[in-house]
Amino acid sequence: MKKLGIYIHIPFCKQKCNYCDFYSIKWDDESENKYIEAVISEINSYKDKLCGNYIVDTLFFGGGTPTIIKPENLGKIVDSLRGVIEIDKCSEISMEANPNTLTSENLRKYKNIGINRLSIGIQSLNDEILKKIGRIHNSTEALEAIDRAKNIGFENINADIMFNIPGQTGYDIDEAVTKIIEKGVKHISFYSLKLEKGTPMYSLEKNKKIIMPDEEIEREMYYAGRNVMEKNNLFQYEISNFAVKGFECRHNLKYWNQDEYIGLGPSAHSFMDNIRYSNPSDLKFYCDNINTSKFERIIHEQLEKNDLMFEYIMLRLRLTEGLSINEFNNKFSQDFKEVYKMQINFLVKNDLLEINSDFIRLTNKGMDISNYVIEEFM
Ligand SMILES: C[S@@+](CC[C@H](N)C(=O)[O-])C[C@H]1O[C@@H](n2cnc3c(N)ncnc32)[C@H](O)[C@@H]1O
Ligand code: SF4
Repeated sequence: MKKLGIYIHIPFCKQKCNYCDFYSIKWDDESENKYIEAVISEINSYKDKLCGNYIVDTLFFGGGTPTIIKPENLGKIVDSLRGVIEIDKCSEISMEANPNTLTSENLRKYKNIGINRLSIGIQSLNDEILKKIGRIHNSTEALEAIDRAKNIGFENINADIMFNIPGQTGYDIDEAVTKIIEKGVKHISFYSLKLEKGTPMYSLEKNKKIIMPDEEIEREMYYAGRNVMEKNNLFQYEISNFAVKGFECRHNLKYWNQDEYIGLGPSAHSFMDNIRYSNPSDLKFYCDNINTSKFERIIHEQLEKNDLMFEYIMLRLRLTEGLSINEFNNKFSQDFKEVYKMQINFLVKNDLLEINSDFIRLTNKGMDISNYVIEEFM
């Protein structure tokens, strides 16, 4: 049976953060109930495709804020999944959590459902910054949430940290990352703030009400965080992800390895049979139409061999391990070094790419301008 990752999008938040354009709406009880019914229908609609052909080895509840809905409802989703597809007993089952919604009582319930990895949105430990970006928690609450999760027995914990926020400094980052590692977190997703169109922070910047840090300061913050993490044995394994060895996120690795996954819920993306598609980002439409012929998924790409090759290079070069030339040659029946001879020569000469026996990977300099390097393979 083929292995499969499943992503479940929980489209609710207590309050929208000022930088975020992930699809989510304000939570209410009635919408939660309708959503649960709809997502169970969607799971059942996959039965013929999945049953007996695939086995789930990673499950990821993302959002939005999965911790905002009743744990019993998360349990119902897992039970419905078990009705259509086998879930491997060694599966990684992750859930994103906002510190403000992570109670001890619920943490126990998550454990009983089988959730064995938490991804907590800490973002910053500077209270002024947390307020400015619209978070509903302060730094003390953020650290307490990690303590509660550890006390209940969660070992595999990620913290999301953002840098490049106006007013933030390298010192802020150093302090936050140090404190979080001291709490025993084994994985950090370290994101550079990107201003997304339609968000309050995007408009503030356009109206010159806030000024984004310049590139030099952005890099200073990045190196400040990276140094602390590497000193404490959290190694970079992907452009934005650092982990103690053995705690890399197995679900997210599927994205960078071009493995198959399906996404359930509004706005969730899938990759299956070489097709990238997603559900519409509209909860009402999703709930009203999931059982009707009006429900259509958005097809983004039907990937042919050349597209798959380029995409594979683009994804694998995000990983510090890089791309195995042997694996590439077997997967696509091609000779990587021959097909990309010119690009390799040029990028290696400019210290952007390195080859080490079977692996080709970005250098530190290449990581800094990864988009540019990857474009060379187009
Ligand atoms: C779905 S949220 C995580 C869970 C939960 N909703 C929370 O915020 O606590 C995913 C993560 O993406 C990151 N993120 C969201 N918008 C971003 C942006 N515009 N730029 C950089 N990182 C962003 C944040 O670190 C956030 O924690
Ligand atoms: S960052 Fe998380 S809590 Fe904030 S709006 Fe986005 S999904 Fe919701």
